[in-house]
Amino acid sequence: MSAHRLDGKVAFITGSGGGMGRAEAVLMAERGADIIVHDVKEKGAHETAEQVRAAGRKAHVIVADVTDIKTMTAEIAKADKAMGKIDILVNNAGIGGDYRLLSQLEEADFDKMFNTHVKASFFCAKAVVPGMKERKKGKIINISSNWAMIGAIFSSHYCGAKAAILGLTKAWAKELAPYNINVNAVAPGWVDTGMGTEEEKKKSLPQIPLRRMGQPVEPAYAVAFLASSESDFITGQVICPNGGDGIVGI
Ligand SMILES: NC(=O)c1ccc[n+]([C@@H]2O[C@H](COP(=O)([O-])OP(=O)(O)OC[C@H]3O[C@@H](n4cnc5c(N)ncnc54)[C@H](O)[C@@H]3O)[C@@H](O)[C@H]2O)c1
Repeated sequence: MSAHRLDGKVAFITGSGGGMGRAEAVLMAERGADIIVHDVKEKGAHETAEQVRAAGRKAHVIVADVTDIKTMTAEIAKADKAMGKIDILVNNAGIGGDYRLLSQLEEADFDKMFNTHVKASFFCAKAVVPGMKERKKGKIINISSNWAMIGAIFSSHYCGAKAAILGLTKAWAKELAPYNINVNAVAPGWVDTGMGTEEEKKKSLPQIPLRRMGQPVEPAYAVAFLASSESDFITGQVICPNGGDGIVGI
């Protein structure tokens, strides 16, 4: 079997009722994985599940707010039982930063942002890691953002939450390596989903070397690669499908 295939694997993707999460679910199903689809939006989650089934794979649906840790933990346990295991976790669910400045952001905005991205990712990982440890195999992929690395002139709570996700990624990569669990991040630039306004996206084009936004399947290719055994020697890393926007480092 080609190393990019995911046959026999079960992938749990948060926020896969639309956008990039749906593209990740459908692509991984096409590559052979059964999918646990999750979203707070019931209709979107069921639509994705239908697309997974149309690709010939099994789908289990969780409809829950990712910030409701107690419900999520119980639903993940149910999904694990129904599907037999969870081999791959993609912490994808997210919300945009609404282009607000520090002066416009209140405690509730900060809490919602960090709860959705950081706290939820932390507790989804905590729920799936025991099974991965037992099987001595697992893949965790955290969705960060270009803005975690280059910042933005607004939405600092979003940039901060996405940067925290990179910290979790690197720490878990070290902590879980003895159990053969790979933990990596995908940090996309602008991708054409429901997130962000058309005007903002257009304004960003001149700074993107490839002069276009990404399509949802483009970060999904990076996610599917990190979910496959092609990436078995890669952990604690960040892949940036961003059209060259914000080339950083040496
Ligand atoms: N679109 C971009 O340009 C871009 C760039 C960098 C990173 N990202 C990140 O990629 C991920 C996917 O975003 P997208 O662009 O596909 O956006 P999207 O809005 O199309 O999809 C996000 C999904 O997460 C779900 N969700 C949000 N809050 C939730 C909650 N509390 N509980 C359960 N589900 C919830 C939404 O219902 C939605 O289906 C996010 O983490 C986002 O921050 C997006």
